Amino acid sequence: MLRIQGLVKVYPGPVTALGGLDLTVPVGMFGLLGPNGAGKSTLMKILAGLLEPTSGSVTLDEIDVVAHPEKVRERLGYLPQEFGFYPHLNGEQMLIHLLRLKGVAAPGGLKALARDLLERVNLGWAARRSVKSYSGGMRQRLGVAQAIAANPRLVIVDEPTAGLDPEERLRFYHLLTELAQDRIVLLSTHIVEDVAVLCPRFAVIRRGRLVAETNPRAAREALRGQIFEGTAGPDEIAELRAQRRVTQAILVEGRHRVRIHEPEGRPPAGFEPVPPTLEDAYLLLMGAGAAAAAGAAGPAVRASRATGENGGAPATTPSAVDEIGAPR
Ligand SMILES: Nc1ncnc2c1ncn2[C@@H]1O[C@H](COP(=O)(O)OP(=O)(O)O)[C@@H](O)[C@H]1O
Ligand SMILES: [Mg+2]
Repeated sequence: MLRIQGLVKVYPGPVTALGGLDLTVPVGMFGLLGPNGAGKSTLMKILAGLLEPTSGSVTLDEIDVVAHPEKVRERLGYLPQEFGFYPHLNGEQMLIHLLRLKGVAAPGGLKALARDLLERVNLGWAARRSVKSYSGGMRQRLGVAQAIAANPRLVIVDEPTAGLDPEERLRFYHLLTELAQDRIVLLSTHIVEDVAVLCPRFAVIRRGRLVAETNPRAAREALRGQIFEGTAGPDEIAELRAQRRVTQAILVEGRHRVRIHEPEGRPPAGFEPVPPTLEDAYLLLMGAGAAAAAGAAGPAVRASRATGENGGAPATTPSAVDEIGAPR
């Protein structure tokens, strides 16, 4: 079990990247969802023992990560958000190099271990190809190969699906799911779909604070009967935004297909109730309506520390935050 208590990180500036985070992560896949600048990478670097927090504690299976980073390093695999490669090496050479740097024990030799790991991440066929020719998904799988080399208890992957095409993403989902069978896999992402597909539990962070800790089903259920969909012409959308909490507006054939949140269940004329999505829940948590959304979510949302300021925009639907951020 990974336990994070009162974690604070203030960078020189000062920039408060983490403003007192409490989180307990059990075995299995756990999502850390938040927009750019939320503090995800900062948290992950601290968990990996690469960055010292300003205050607070982190323990992995009762071992103090902050005081003894060297003790957890062997129990931990980390795929950073920015992962560097030497383009002139082939996949196998690159992996051997990384394993050597990490000091991974390989009784049967590094080459045999590298081969084995490449097979596990489905890259055996590309072992002799230069890393330069690898697709984004292949690079991420190579990154995972080095992260799991020592069979770690905790695997941390920082935004691993950003930039992958749909097919590569699906393949990567399968790999992560396999890894999470018997260990903690902590996945940070700004992509709601990652969480919907992969994570039985997840936390939402925003501006270095926990906004919610829940599971996808509960987050959706909490909004049941409160999400409505309809269409609006270009001339109607502004008024709708001013009067209602719009969670999403997509242009379809020149008209706006709009989803709105109506906690009282009273939609405008022409709007129909629709099943809530995780995207609705996330966007409501991110906006100025964070307090309302968390309140509406009731017991499903354990922690709510909405502060009322605007969050950063999630990359999936950049306009949506402005919409829900607008005063009603
Ligand atoms: N080395 C640093 N020095 C100063 N500020 C930083 C540094 N690294 C990150 N930050 C700031 O800390 C906040 C959180 O950043 P980060 O942890 O990278 O968030 P995320 O990974 O969720 O995008 C941001 O405001 C970012 O600009
Ligand atoms: Mg990041």
